[in-house]
Amino acid sequence: MNLLAELRRRFQQALDHLVDDSDVYTSMVRPAQDARFGDYQANCAMPLGKILGRNPRDVAESLVASLKVDDLCEPPEVAGPGFINLKLHQEWLAAETARLVDDPRLGHQAVEDPLHYVIDFSSPNVAKPMHVGHLRSTVIGDALVRVLGFQGQRVTGDNHVGDWGTQFGMIIQGYRQFLDADAYAEDAVGELARLYRLVSRIAGYHETSAALPGQRSRWQERQAELGRLEEMIAEGDKSRKSAAKKLRAEVAGLAETIEAAEVELAAVETDEHLARLADQHPEIAEASRAETAKLHAGDPENRALWEEFLPSCLEAMDAIYRRLDVEFAERLGESYYQPMLADVVESLEQRELARTSEGAVCVFIEGNDAPFIVRKSDGAFTYATTDLATIRHRVEQQQADVILYVVDARQGEHFRLLFDTARLWGFAETEFTHVSFGTVLGEDRRPFKTRSGDTVGLESLLDEAVVRARRIVDENDDAKPEGPELDEATRAAVAEAVGIGGIKYADLHHNRDSDYQFSWDKMLATNGDTATYMQYAHARILGIFRRGEVDRETLRQGGPLIVLGDEVERALAMALNRFADAIDVTATECRPNVLTQYLFETANAFSTFYNACPVLKEPDAGRRDSRLALCDLTARVLARGLSLLGIDVCEQM
Ligand code: ARG
Repeated sequence: MNLLAELRRRFQQALDHLVDDSDVYTSMVRPAQDARFGDYQANCAMPLGKILGRNPRDVAESLVASLKVDDLCEPPEVAGPGFINLKLHQEWLAAETARLVDDPRLGHQAVEDPLHYVIDFSSPNVAKPMHVGHLRSTVIGDALVRVLGFQGQRVTGDNHVGDWGTQFGMIIQGYRQFLDADAYAEDAVGELARLYRLVSRIAGYHETSAALPGQRSRWQERQAELGRLEEMIAEGDKSRKSAAKKLRAEVAGLAETIEAAEVELAAVETDEHLARLADQHPEIAEASRAETAKLHAGDPENRALWEEFLPSCLEAMDAIYRRLDVEFAERLGESYYQPMLADVVESLEQRELARTSEGAVCVFIEGNDAPFIVRKSDGAFTYATTDLATIRHRVEQQQADVILYVVDARQGEHFRLLFDTARLWGFAETEFTHVSFGTVLGEDRRPFKTRSGDTVGLESLLDEAVVRARRIVDENDDAKPEGPELDEATRAAVAEAVGIGGIKYADLHHNRDSDYQFSWDKMLATNGDTATYMQYAHARILGIFRRGEVDRETLRQGGPLIVLGDEVERALAMALNRFADAIDVTATECRPNVLTQYLFETANAFSTFYNACPVLKEPDAGRRDSRLALCDLTARVLARGLSLLGIDVCEQM
């Protein structure tokens, strides 16, 4: 049973006696933080007390009086300022757990009225090396595809690849000037990536060196001003302190930018070959932009090159998706929407949503300073135009009810403007959500990605994860008291599951809004909030069945009674019954970390149970079967939960 949903429904009925907008308050029914207070807790009486001008404890008492939960719970208790604590009946919990034993959905009831979710995720820019930011989108998006699908929603995962951007101008330019034909014949994608990096480095060199003098003089100016402020403060003018603080941060920021620029320039200048190329091609950025413009205008030669490059680039991406076990129902890249863009702008103009300002066609949204540019003054359409065409396609052709965009938080402004524009444009019925996420940081707490070209390639990252995982798997197997159990092929398969699973889990278990620091050691730790820990817990449970020669299927069919004699048995049963809640909250909030948190708590509850309660050695047969059933359920919950996150488990590790 989706317990939380059920309890919220019950509260809703009770709340309807008190307020009109009961929805706000039912969401305040939550799993209890501390098991001493029960299983669930509602803290809605406090805000309600304020609104109704009543003592919150009285409000809680009258809520409890009309709350009908006696089939599920012990009599609710009102505690402290007005918390309502709920504890499930022991017998009810045992019976409900027994029901899970042969339920393939582990207690989750699929939604009755499915919505069509289009999930825009991964969406890398073709021909540039994919980096960890795209990995984050891929992993979170894939988890949402799986979780929403399990919930019973209609889901279409769409890889909105950037296959029409300015990088093609750079690659075409590079192809004409710097192609190494042998390398291209050998490894087209590798050579294209090299060309892209080369051109962007030369272009970056000239842009940086053009900007540097201005930055230096600005630094000097600000530094001098800071000196003046500091003097005034020294003379006793305390009111300047906060201005000085702000300025100091600005000066430090400028110094950092200048230093990074100097490093970038020196790296080119000290490389004889690069330095010569940079010297010979001062206009490369402009030339690349011109090539992009020609491509977009339909120039046959550039179009032919684009068509030549694209398939191998897409194939290289697919290799990574296969390795990650990620699939897309659609891959409609930016180029797909090109024929529709002129019409988008026209339609916006007709509805008087867009108008020309300084030569560009813009949508002005109230409350936003920045205009949403849909056609630049040179006539080019933008990222925004493409996204608007995409929305129209997804709603009108695909009948999307909800569109999720799993994209870096730095694009937040773009999506705010996009959604506002789309609503005004006539798509007010569709729900749009930017499922945003923070940056992946390196061990030095700077973005894992440094400057363009120096991104850590995804493929080598995955390889390294598996190599490191293999070391752990070997060590662990070699240290087994009865000697190693795994053959070479099994070790390799386990290492793949642990390595790839570790990378995915590391991404998923952080609150997606925050930046997180990439750390191999934390990611692959066998103890703690990691995939490895849960994969081992899962394998350990299967080991119990192997050792006891108990067939799991037969156990389930026997319909064992569940006995929750011990507190730790009850705690484990409670955790197992929360699976449905965890799925629903993960889906509504688009937060895979809700599911990882749940799985971690469940694995911990199992570990406490297993340390305290004998299973195979339990003399009472009924009790033994009940405990075996709890073990079996735990293994299924862990395996199912991890698989909904795109993570594999192994029979034996
Ligand atoms: N290609 C873009 C990037 O790498 C992400 C696209 C996200 N999806 C979208 N519909 N805008 O930054």
